[in-house]
Order: sequence, then structure tokens, then C-alpha cells
Amino acid sequence: EFRPVILCGGSGSRLWPLSRELLPKQFIRLTGERSLLQNTVLRTLRHAGAARPMLVCNAAHRYIAMEQMQELDGAAPGGSDVELLLEPCPRNTAPAIAAAALRATRDGDDPVMLVMPSDHVIEEGPALDEAFELAHQAASEGALALFGVRPTAPLTGYGYLRTAAGARPWQTVEAFIEKPDAERAAAFLREGGYYWNSGMFAFRASIFLHELGRLAPDMMASVREAVLKGSGDDAIFTLDPRAFGACRSDSIDYAVMERTDSAVSVPLDAGWSDVGAWDAVWDIAAKCPQGNSSSGDVMIDDSRNCLVHSTHRLVATLGLDDIVVIETADAVLVAHKSRTQDVKRIVETFRSQH
Ligand code: GDD
Ligand code: MG
Repeated sequence: EFRPVILCGGSGSRLWPLSRELLPKQFIRLTGERSLLQNTVLRTLRHAGAARPMLVCNAAHRYIAMEQMQELDGAAPGGSDVELLLEPCPRNTAPAIAAAALRATRDGDDPVMLVMPSDHVIEEGPALDEAFELAHQAASEGALALFGVRPTAPLTGYGYLRTAAGARPWQTVEAFIEKPDAERAAAFLREGGYYWNSGMFAFRASIFLHELGRLAPDMMASVREAVLKGSGDDAIFTLDPRAFGACRSDSIDYAVMERTDSAVSVPLDAGWSDVGAWDAVWDIAAKCPQGNSSSGDVMIDDSRNCLVHSTHRLVATLGLDDIVVIETADAVLVAHKSRTQDVKRIVETFRSQH
């Protein structure tokens, strides 16, 4: 059995203007009736033989998180029964996972954690079950297991890993490179033998804490203090703002996976997408024969391969190819589909101006 830890503290700024500070993408109903977070929780309960999930999120999002969990009542046994771990400020994934591991071991347990990002879409089926089972086995034996996805393009937003066959049914990670530049990513694809890191991890809580303590002792000390001085109970726990605020910000990928010798990779061949930007949303969306995907009050005429989303007004397009239009109450994005990875730049620019 896994102890699932679901990370939902990201900002999802490449999905602006739908993804906002107060409603980041994991809480948005992007692909249908449920949000990415809700689907992640259900997926975990269905496929990971999982105990009560722990949600780690920014304290500012506690109410939306609670509300979305309540909506899952009845959708899965124990669907809404989660433990909330609240961060007073974002410090990226390494401190978030460390805090979760410390909380998960508080009664002397040492569960195998399944760390799940909440910004993915995965096809559910036997391939996923199999991957989870292998990862559980590897983690029980003391490895830091990750899930390797076969890369399809030299994208720079992912971690890459090179693997070697070992004596066990999983592979040894020989090298891990987080977010390489375009040149290196292209070289990895040419060379072959590289996988993308899916962003999900499985390990024993104590093993992760030991590795982080060795590789980032300062971070470990801050998180330990933030848990020690934190407040709450089994349902909701808030990390101490001062101690957590003093913690260095870093992701598990840079802080641990690039530097550990204990990583292994389990192949994940299950239709995985991280819905990082609007082009990925278009990829996985239902489309008409002309390749357009629309939602809301939209009229599309003589246009191909567009993504058009409206929330407040009628949006009409004419003679467009490969264009993304996202209309919201107070902001509209019009972008070429090939440039949607750069939407982050717009958000960063006006964040620095206001
Ligand atoms: N609780 C919490 N606190 N969660 C966070 C925080 C934080 O400070 N920052 C990010 N998260 C959550 C996000 O909501 C997301 O679900 C997950 O952690 C991963 O963070 P991202 O910011 O989306 O990471 P990434 O996409 O750039 O990179 C990671 O995922 C890729 C695959 O999608 C890395 O693991 C890459 O190596 C990997 O390829
Ligand atoms: Mg991501």
C-alpha cells in the first residue's frame, strides 16, 4: 500500500489567463467535469492501492482544495477523506515533499510514499497498475523510484534520465538532467536511451529524508523546524511560517534526483501528458475534423487546428490556423500555438510591473 502525497502548490503560469494566482491550473476543470487535482486523487485511490492521501498546498488555496475534495464524496470510497498539509509560502517541491515525509512518519510509521504532481493527465489502465506495482517494490527495497516516459520531442521543460539495465525488473538511473537547454535535449534524443521524468516518485519516507539530509542539510533543518513548530491536527496541519519562510527554495529534481545514487526508473507507457501549456491542452482535447477544439460560446469559421475557449463572451474566429484564443472576464490571450510555452513570460512581465 502507498501513502500518496499529492503536490498542488504550483502556479501553472503558462496556462494564463485561465490559470491565476488564486486559481492555478490544478484546480481548473480543464478537461471536463473534474479538475486535474480531483482526477489525480481519484487516480491514486483507484490504481495505487492507496491509504488516505496527503495534499500539500499553499495555505491560500486551502478552501478551494477542501471544496474540491468534498465534491469527490461518493466518487470513490474515502474520496474526500484527505489530510491537508499547508505551506505558508511556496518553496518548491523538495521542502514540500520533505514536510510530507516528516508528517507521514510522525507516529513511527515508515510508509512507501507515492508523490504525485497534480498537473498531469494519464490514461488509466493496466499499464499504470503495473508501473505502480513495480515502483512500490523498488521503493520497498530502498530505492528512490521514478517513472520514465519515452520522449517524443526535445522539450526543455522536463527532466531527462539515462538508464542502464540492472538485475531487477527496473532500471538504474545513470544520469538525471533537469530541464536541459534545447541543444542538450536534442542531443539526448539523437543519442537515444533517455527518458523523460514524469514527475511522480515512490520511496520510503525515511529513505527520502535521509537523502535530503545528506544532500541539502540546510533545507532539511528548516523543514524539520517548520514541522516541529507547525500547528494543526490529523486533518489540517500548517507549517510554521517563519521556519518555512527561511527555507531555501528548490525542486526535488535539482536538490535530490540530479545528485543521488539511489534512483531507479520504472517505465511508464500509459498515455502521459503534463498539460504544461495550451499546446498540450489542444493535444489532448476533443477536436472537430478541422482540428479545432472549442469550449464555451464559440463560433469557428474556416479555421484549422485552433484552440478557442470562451468564458464570458461570444468568441468568433475566421481564417485562422494554429491559433490559441483564451477569453476570460478580465483578460484575453491570443497566441500562436507554437509559442504557448512562452506565455509564462507575459505573466512574469506584469507580475514585475504590479
Ligand atoms: N505543495 C507544493 N508546493 N507543490 C508544488 C510547489 C510548491 O511549492 N511547486 C510546484 N508544486 C507542484 C505543482 O503543482 C505540480 O503538481 C508539481 O508540484 C510539479 O511542479 P512543476 O512546477 O509543475 O514542475 P515542472 O513541471 O516544472 O517539472 C517537474 O515535472 C516534470 C514533468 O511534468 C519535474 O519533476 C520534471 O523533472 C518533470 O519532467
Ligand atoms: Mg509541471
